[in-house]
Amino acid sequence: TDIDPFITGLPKAELHLHIEGSLEPELMFALAERNKVAIPFASVDEVRAAYAFSNLQDFLDIYYAGAAVLCTRQDFHDLASAYFARAAADGVLHAEIMFDPQTHTDRGISFAEVVEGLLSAMAEAKDKYGMTSQLILCFLRHLSEEAAFETLRQAEPWLDRITAVGLDSSEVGHPPAKFARVFAAARAKGLKITVHAGEEGPPAYVYEALDLIGTDRIDHGNRAMEDPVLVRRLREEGKTLTVCPLSNLKLCVVGDLQQHPIDRMLQAGLAATVNSDDPAYFGGYIADNYRAVAEARGLSREHLATLARNSFLGSFLPSEQIAAHI
Ligand code: HPA
Ligand code: ZN
Repeated sequence: TDIDPFITGLPKAELHLHIEGSLEPELMFALAERNKVAIPFASVDEVRAAYAFSNLQDFLDIYYAGAAVLCTRQDFHDLASAYFARAAADGVLHAEIMFDPQTHTDRGISFAEVVEGLLSAMAEAKDKYGMTSQLILCFLRHLSEEAAFETLRQAEPWLDRITAVGLDSSEVGHPPAKFARVFAAARAKGLKITVHAGEEGPPAYVYEALDLIGTDRIDHGNRAMEDPVLVRRLREEGKTLTVCPLSNLKLCVVGDLQQHPIDRMLQAGLAATVNSDDPAYFGGYIADNYRAVAEARGLSREHLATLARNSFLGSFLPSEQIAAHI
């Protein structure tokens, strides 16, 4: 449609992207072959057919199984390199990439192998596309506090190249409070913080992310809309929400995109942004996400421009670089 060139042409930052979630089935097969790793699928079509999820855990089970093909620094480089090519084509000028070290270190892959592969692809993206990027190390919330502390210790040699820490994986039953001490330790090391909250979990988890962790951003935040007092607080604090419409659809956080809250979030004065989360699994990269809500919710170009502007304002870039983008 005629909105496509406008969306692609909007300067955008991507703030919520799990690099393991950008593993396309074709690359999954190629890496399975290269590393002689067995995967429970016979063909690319079979993989795509398995991508029908009824909730977050359904997705996570397949997402962690897929990640088993990632073994060497070259694999992580190739994975991120493919993402940056898609993002550049979508008009992304800056990308903040989440990665899940525990998914790999628990299989015997070294932290160094993961992070060095990602860093080399980031340098390549800067050269090739002029795209800036940063790393967000995510702790898996279904694992223990001690395991998160161990991961933070392993990251120590790279902390000058890691911008932030995040919290992802199975939300319900694993409230932010479980990780308050490890986030305090990360903050003391100068890291920024972003926490998945209010995707499936209740508004109480968003309060915990704010009150017990002092998070800089909220990833998703959909269920904050259930609590008017919380909405007012998020507005008053100018807290960025990294919303992921196609993810919300595929994980049944919303029944259909016609019910997506993105425009109600903007209407409420929230600093909402649009992002792709796990684009290989959810059927679209960032421009697809903008297009999906533009169509389903009838967003104006002004709304779309606000969302894109919010992405730079909510980024972890230094303020002078933010100013240069808006
Ligand atoms: N939620 C929680 N954990 C995740 C997600 C998500 O949307 N994507 C990848 N890990
Ligand atoms: Zn996510």
